[in-house]
Amino acid sequence: MTIFRQLFEPVSSTYTYLLGCEETGTAILIDPVYPTWERDLTVISGLGLRLAWTVETHVHADHITSATLLKRETGSRIACPAAAGLSCPDLGIEEGRPFKAGSITLTPLFTPGHTDDHLCYVSGDRVLSGDALLIDGCGRTDFQNGDAATLYRSVHDKLFTLPDDCLVYPAHDYNDRRVSTIAQERARNPRLGGGRSLDEFVKLMDGLDLPYPKFIDHALPGNRLCGICPQDLPDRLEAYCAQMTSSPQG
Ligand SMILES: [Fe+2]
Repeated sequence: MTIFRQLFEPVSSTYTYLLGCEETGTAILIDPVYPTWERDLTVISGLGLRLAWTVETHVHADHITSATLLKRETGSRIACPAAAGLSCPDLGIEEGRPFKAGSITLTPLFTPGHTDDHLCYVSGDRVLSGDALLIDGCGRTDFQNGDAATLYRSVHDKLFTLPDDCLVYPAHDYNDRRVSTIAQERARNPRLGGGRSLDEFVKLMDGLDLPYPKFIDHALPGNRLCGICPQDLPDRLEAYCAQMTSSPQG
């Protein structure tokens, strides 16, 4: 049996996913975030599990991964999309090669468009959709070799062809929504669903006029090293690399 938990990191509104194998006591964390690394380990040990792997959906621009910190603390190994071309991971993941840890299997789907390295992971009756598909939304496509037409094809060809009842667990939500389904997003996602055409989507994404991401210049170099917090962080961004002090939700 697979154990599953959705954990929330409030500084960047990121969901970290914990999958555990009851038989072997193996746990993996998908998209773990720096400020909540201790909380994540407390949840894992509370379930009687030990952390074996951290797994990334892509190189993140909005938070620092805790992958290296967790490796230092627990000996866990680091898995990242092979397409990111990083030298720090223990394993590069790519579509066509399932990732296995105990009874946990992740089937990677190469879903570029938000970034050019992005993977979604199908596990049982759920898909961890990263920033490719959010609930009623999607990740931005204007940085990290993002491309709206590519994202449209990734979502329509790889995600919207999953079973209707497949549960969609995104990497972020900014409005307390936690889970959706493929059928719901295919029908109702205001950007990508409801029969919206590729041209309409590209126009919509081009017109978003989003502000420059406030943490990107620090997050990208830190995450290309699998999670190193920068030394020169301005005060206003300190929360991204601080430890959580209050007990966070999730
Ligand atoms: Fe992202």
